[in-house]
Amino acid sequence: MASKEWPNVTVLRRTPHLRHIMSILRSVDTEPPKFAATADLIARLVVAAALEHVEYEDLKVTTPTGTTYDGTRPAKQICGVSILRAGESMEHILREWMPSVVIGKVLIQRDEETALPKFVFDKLPSKICNCQVILLDPMLATGGSAMKAIEVLHSHGVPLANIVFCNIIASPEGIDTLTKRFPEVKVVTAEVDDHLNEKKYIIPGLGDYGDRYFGTI
Ligand code: PRP
Ligand code: URA
Repeated sequence: MASKEWPNVTVLRRTPHLRHIMSILRSVDTEPPKFAATADLIARLVVAAALEHVEYEDLKVTTPTGTTYDGTRPAKQICGVSILRAGESMEHILREWMPSVVIGKVLIQRDEETALPKFVFDKLPSKICNCQVILLDPMLATGGSAMKAIEVLHSHGVPLANIVFCNIIASPEGIDTLTKRFPEVKVVTAEVDDHLNEKKYIIPGLGDYGDRYFGTI
């Protein structure tokens, strides 16, 4: 569902079923194996929604009945870029939906004291400037990490309008900051939370996504 407040932001429809799955993900009692399995379910939904925001062209295919089906294929190569570490958890889901995808990575770490993002490295396809990019990171808190990643993509020649940021939980502060700085970038998320606390953690949130997904608590 497109957000009224933020025109380029799509938030999944808040159904009782989605809230049930998010309850499992967010509960402090959910152990890492169950957390990862539940996170994958939600990632499937947001990645599918993000793939609705790339450009497609018509493609006719012949079926075994000898007749044609009016289908589509991506108009440009799709590139998934994960913000390490937590964004990497969404890569295999993008590959499931779009096996032809190419993958790049950026390592950006949020300083635990200041919450400021630190860029460490990128490994991106050489022709990324011609791709439609799905940028993967499940958490958008201050927006610092996502904005740093967008700067990196833009510095490699990716037009801002060709970037879809695919996320699971966002703070209103993070969405405000990101969409004001990069109004052309599309954002897809499962839920927008209440606020950030004094340590810049999302409230109610779910704690540290990367630690819970990868079992490094
Ligand atoms: C987390 C998360 C985002 C970032 C969000 O990563 O995955 O990248 O914090 O916060 P921000 O919007 O305030 O920048 P973190 O750097 O903690 O590393 P991790 O992926 O290794 O858990
Ligand atoms: N990163 C997380 O994993 N969780 C937050 O709430 C903020 C940043």
